Amino acid sequence: MTGAAPAPAATLVIFGAMGDLAKRLLVPSLLNLVRDGLLGDDFRIIGVSHHDVDDAGLRDGLDDFVGKEDDAGEAWASLRERISYLRGSFDEDAPYAALKARVTGNAAFYLATAPGFFGTIVDRLADAGLTDEADGFRRVLIEKPFGHNLPSAQALNRQILARIGEGQVYRIDHFLGKETVQNIMIARFANALLEAVWNSRYIDHVQITAAETVSVGTRGKFYDATGALRDMIPNHLFQLLAMVGMEPPNSFDAEAIRNEKAKLLAAVRGPKAGEVARDAVRGQYRAGRAGDADVPDYHAEDLIAADSRTETYAAIRVEVETWRWAGVPFYLRTGKALSARDTEIVVVFKPVPFALFRDTDVTRLPPNELVLQVQPHEGISLDFIVKKPGPVVDTGEASLDFRYADHFPLGHRTGYETLLYDALIGDQTLFQRADMIEAGWAAVQPILDAWGEGGEPEPYAAGSAGPAGAATMLAREGRHWHALG
Ligand code: BG6
Repeated sequence: MTGAAPAPAATLVIFGAMGDLAKRLLVPSLLNLVRDGLLGDDFRIIGVSHHDVDDAGLRDGLDDFVGKEDDAGEAWASLRERISYLRGSFDEDAPYAALKARVTGNAAFYLATAPGFFGTIVDRLADAGLTDEADGFRRVLIEKPFGHNLPSAQALNRQILARIGEGQVYRIDHFLGKETVQNIMIARFANALLEAVWNSRYIDHVQITAAETVSVGTRGKFYDATGALRDMIPNHLFQLLAMVGMEPPNSFDAEAIRNEKAKLLAAVRGPKAGEVARDAVRGQYRAGRAGDADVPDYHAEDLIAADSRTETYAAIRVEVETWRWAGVPFYLRTGKALSARDTEIVVVFKPVPFALFRDTDVTRLPPNELVLQVQPHEGISLDFIVKKPGPVVDTGEASLDFRYADHFPLGHRTGYETLLYDALIGDQTLFQRADMIEAGWAAVQPILDAWGEGGEPEPYAAGSAGPAGAATMLAREGRHWHALG
């Protein structure tokens, strides 16, 4: 964020300040913003939670989580002093009355709480007059999951928008804070080379993957009630899909960009009731070794029901019903305890129309593939065909690789810096609008319904590439998944 101006003076109220998100990501990101000169001395934090601690207790609890780099000490000492604590239950009046007395001017309220509190907190903030923008902006940042299906997301949007305007709501999808995700738009719209072939004439299909080696670990309670589909697809993976598929916006204004993304998301057609068995695959891991860890059966993990049918892997096939994408399948997959951590978008191009090369059957030429790598190594690569040296005309595969880290210093970033800074300066580009959230849920609702009715996820070994059914889903159409890792 070179050249960016510091955010205006404001108070950030973090509901759920003693939680993991606040400690691991929010406060370290705010510290990075202080170090970059993007938050001034007039920025302060009030942490709210039901834990029995005081200012010192909150600050001490944060000490272990903030950067230990040489230059972090001074910035942390300065920010630490500006962090205070307010004890209270989110569904009682007292903390809101106390906030009313403490908060003046600009304020943003970050709901880093269990999702069941989102609506209540907004109601209580509004009841207490804390969302009135008479003497400064008042914004609410809301974490995912935003609803657990289409009706609950619609109900939550209604509840929130009955009290505050859409312009005050910043629904977080932390994938949008990742540099490479933001770069997809630049890669597409600043490079004539790409945009010229970015359509169904040249693109055979697109694969979007978010594979993790971690298992559910300590998050069993949340995860068993959620599953891989809800956890990742209508939000994170659809955001990647929107970036890849959207039409060029007329400007880089937040609304112009969000309008194009919303249009794309509204055009996503997921499997309907009778198509779920063919176009959606769910899996659940069994004991194995993933990453550097031994992983038990999903059923043997903490806080998982012994007969749980929750999927830890989901793969779906969707189409995008627009002029640009008609007939191009988009395959999306995500899962835990897989063979590699790998978040990527693979754009697979169509074969050349005619094979000129003697003895080289065009159907045997591997397609050009453009890989937009989001994690773990941010970069872009392009696989293409070359002639193998020698007197005989024979083809081989080569790759052009661009790695961010080789060209630009990436520094220490959590991914939340941009999101927090943008919320404080009032830029909603990277936040989900109500219609975008609902379009995401609408596209997967038939799958949720079908899976809710019965059936079992297919087992896969921890450390593998996922259930066999996911490979079959592509093989049926003569395609295969890009190898993980
Ligand atoms: C979260 C999901 O939203 O995203 C987690 O709830 C998942 O289950 C995480 O692990 C992945 O995010 P990242 O940034 O680690 O790729």
